[in-house]
Order: sequence, then structure tokens, then C-alpha cells
Amino acid sequence: MKELLEQPGFLAPSGTFGADLSYLLAVVFTVMFLIAWVLAKKGLGTQHHNLIFLSMVSMLIYFIGYYYARQLGVLTLEGKEGFGGPQDIYDNIFIPTLTTHLILVCLGLILSIYMIFQGFRACDKIEGNYILQRRELIADPKIFKSTMIIIGGIWAGNQLVITFIRDKSFAASLAWAIIFGIIALVVYLEKFIEKSIPDGARRHKLLGRATMIIFSLILVTSTLVYLMLYVIYPKI
Ligand code: HEM
Repeated sequence: MKELLEQPGFLAPSGTFGADLSYLLAVVFTVMFLIAWVLAKKGLGTQHHNLIFLSMVSMLIYFIGYYYARQLGVLTLEGKEGFGGPQDIYDNIFIPTLTTHLILVCLGLILSIYMIFQGFRACDKIEGNYILQRRELIADPKIFKSTMIIIGGIWAGNQLVITFIRDKSFAASLAWAIIFGIIALVVYLEKFIEKSIPDGARRHKLLGRATMIIFSLILVTSTLVYLMLYVIYPKI
């Protein structure tokens, strides 16, 4: 697999197959999200939901495959090894763009998972169609509590597996603790979001638009990183 990903690319002369494929898929997923936005704007709630669902599932499969094939932090490593431009461009343009890109990817992933759950909660299925409901949407305290307990339980189970079965480093435990911490924080943040935008339909539209804008910015920043690494400043 690694050998295949390191083969010459098909988009830019100095790109690798892995980089080109991941860039192409990033474009496809973002465009799918943006089409889903257009569908929502046209009032086609069910088609919007189906496309979002399809994009999310394919994106997750891709991320997991990518993680196993190349390990996390690939872009950063590739940046160090693959950037052939001047040092000041690397420090002042490349690294800030790459950092912004990675922050947006994390934010986009968190927000889109949140939005999927929020979408189901804010909609009623009427005659087979998802319709957003203009009503106060507050999490049931019991469901809220059990969600937190389930997150804590999965984290503890995962921690036991990585410590005693897979014998992973402290850094791996810390990374997982941060990931689960973020998930718990997002669930907790819902309490504040509920207060500031009580209407579920309005919340879905406002946060949904923010998520879509983040996805568009992810496309812009990944294009810039790709161009800098493989078109403008490739390492020869
Ligand atoms: C990543 C997840 C999601 C995002 C980013 C998202 C985003 C959006 C946005 C931006 C709008 C408003 C469009 C506009 O007026 O500008 C919208 C509307 C809507 N969404 Fe979602 N959505 C997501 C998931 C879902 C899910 C899972 C459902 C259903 C279960 C759903 C059902 C709807 C419905 C019914 C509308 C209203 C369409 C209309 O105006 O008639 N969404 N969504």
C-alpha cells in the first residue's frame, strides 16, 4: 500500500499518487457537502440528509484508510521533507496555511458529527420526509447524563486495551484522552448552545451554514497546501 501511495501522481508532475488521491477525494467530499447545502436551500430536506450521510460515511472510511496507510501527521511530515521553497515562505506562509488547514479539518469534523445528531433531533419525519421543526430543542437531562457516562465508559475501555493489550505509549493514551475530552466537551457545549439558540430549526440552519463555510475553507487551504508542495515549490 505504502509503495502504491508513493508512486508518481496524476495531477501535478511532482505529486505522489497518495497526495493526488487524497487531494482529489478532499475536493469530491467538499463538493458533495456543498451540493447538500444547495439541496437544503431548495427545501429538499430528505435528499440533503441522504447526501450528507453518504459524504460522512465515505469521508470516515477514507480517513480511517488514510490513517492506517500513512499514519497521522502525514501532511506535516511531507511538508518538512517535500517543501522546496525559501525558508521565509515556509515559515510565514506554508506553516500558517497548513496549521489553519489542520485546525479547520478538526473543527469541521467535530461540527459535522454534531450536526448529524442535531439534524435528526431538530427534524420530524413527516410522510417519509425530514422537515425541520421550529420548536425549542433542549436535551433531555437523563439522555445527556447517560451520553456522558457512555463516552466515559468507551474511553476507559479503550484506555485498558491500549495499555494492557496493545502496550501503547503514554503519548497514545494522551492523544486518545484529548480526543474523548473533545467529544465530551462538544456534548457539554450543547448546554450553552441550547441557551443561545433555543429554536432547533434556527440552530440547525445557523450552525449548518457555519459548518458549510468551514468545509469551503478546508477546500481553499488544502488547495493552497497542495499547490505549494507539488506545483510552486516542489523539492527537486
Ligand atoms: C453535517 C451535517 C449537516 C449539515 C452541515 C447541515 C447543514 C444544513 C444547512 C446549512 C441548512 C440550511 C440551508 C440554508 O437555508 O442555508 C440545513 C437545512 C436542513 N437540514 Fe441539514 N445539515 C446537516 C445534517 C442534517 C441531517 C442529518 C438532517 C436530517 C436528519 C438534516 C435536515 C435538514 C432539513 C430538513 C433542512 C431544512 C431544509 C428546508 O429549508 O426545507 N440536516 N442543513
